[in-house]
Amino acid sequence: MNYFIETIGCQMNMCESDKLGLALSTYGVSKVNILQEANIVILNTCSIRAQSEQKAFSFLGRAEEFKQDNPNTKIIVMGCMAERIGFEIKRRFKSVDLIIVSKDIDNAVFKIADLCNLYNYNYSFNKIEDFPNIIRYVTIMRGCDNYCSYCVVPFVRGREISLNDLDILEESSLLVKKGAKEIMLLGQNVNSYRYKDFNFISLIKNIATINDLERIRFMTNHPKDLSDELIGMMATESKVCSHIHLPMQSASNKILKAMNRKYSYGHYIDLVKKLRMAIPDISITTDIIVGFPGETKEDFEETFKAVKEIRFGGLYVFRYSPRPNTKAANMPDSVSLEEKKRRHRLILEESNKISVEIAASMVGSTQQVLAEKIENGIIEARTRGGRKVFVKCSNEKDLGRHLNVTIKEAKINSLFGNII
Ligand code: SAH
Ligand code: SF4
Ligand code: F3S
Repeated sequence: MNYFIETIGCQMNMCESDKLGLALSTYGVSKVNILQEANIVILNTCSIRAQSEQKAFSFLGRAEEFKQDNPNTKIIVMGCMAERIGFEIKRRFKSVDLIIVSKDIDNAVFKIADLCNLYNYNYSFNKIEDFPNIIRYVTIMRGCDNYCSYCVVPFVRGREISLNDLDILEESSLLVKKGAKEIMLLGQNVNSYRYKDFNFISLIKNIATINDLERIRFMTNHPKDLSDELIGMMATESKVCSHIHLPMQSASNKILKAMNRKYSYGHYIDLVKKLRMAIPDISITTDIIVGFPGETKEDFEETFKAVKEIRFGGLYVFRYSPRPNTKAANMPDSVSLEEKKRRHRLILEESNKISVEIAASMVGSTQQVLAEKIENGIIEARTRGGRKVFVKCSNEKDLGRHLNVTIKEAKINSLFGNII
């Protein structure tokens, strides 16, 4: 038996897909990279924007077509859409055999095993060597309680829950034992992590004690909860990377308020200044939504100006997409599609321009990079700020090692360097 898994959505989904794949491998089910070669087809879905759901529907169309000629194929849908509109999916796609909702995610492998008559010959987390990744994701929180007015996550992932700190430590240690060098901690708002007396800072300090772990990253941060104490810890704890993903969404106070983000642009700018003061080489990345209900040209101008002034290390920009049940869905979607596209393009062009300038300014500098992959004699690595660097490989053993590299050339999304 083998499986194909298509993952749409955020790192949390990728993490859950990886875990499911790992669990399936203990049943002797192996992974294939082509849908047409699989007996078990799994789709891990996302509801964040209408477009994300559209992707899932077109994938299911293809899977259903394949199943017509291969009736023994099993089709399984999990993730946020399964939670939101599982019934509708079943009704539209009769070929779907199993829907796994978020609250059942920990039992996903057992449900699939039942469906496909799989026999577990060695259920053990130690099978992790099948996935020799240098970077591993670890989920530390589930759900979200923030109810940003545009966002579907609280409805599809439920209440915010922080996971047991010991479980997190144990999982991270095991991943490091199996070769991971970098751990990325995941939650919708990691700054509000709290398990008993443990807050996010104590959690990171504990994880940093794992021998052989080189780097720690985390996401996503919420500007309303990012504390001075955390900034201080990032500055002093050498394993924590000089990178923070801090979604701004908008720089207009009127729009931030309508989004229920609970901070002003002034507060955001203060955080940027504090971060740069404490960690001079930090790369700040962000998310922006354009065309939120009521966003005038002036509101957009404020966001555009902020992007120009802050000079993010990178950003994701999204056109606002109304989501069912959210508060913003009741606000008139006032910005035309054409105008949303224009604003989207303007932000993207500006941010690409800045990104190229930042990359160019790094030429000649020395960067500490972590070698994540080696392919065709080229090492793919990343700086502490999160930029990709390609380096010629002279020693296969460099995989997973920290290397000091002189940057020789810069392109839009990547740097090229030589090992010192
Ligand atoms: N918890 C994280 C982000 C989760 S979703 C946070 O609060 O930052 C990732 C990004 O998708 C968000 O930051 C936002 O920019 C975007 N997004 C969420 N809902 C959206 C919607 N309805 N339309 C367009 N973009 C949206
Ligand atoms: Fe959505 Fe806001 Fe929660 Fe992020 S913090 S997941 S944007 S509700
Ligand atoms: Fe999408 Fe669910 Fe993540 S809606 S962004 S997969 S939490």
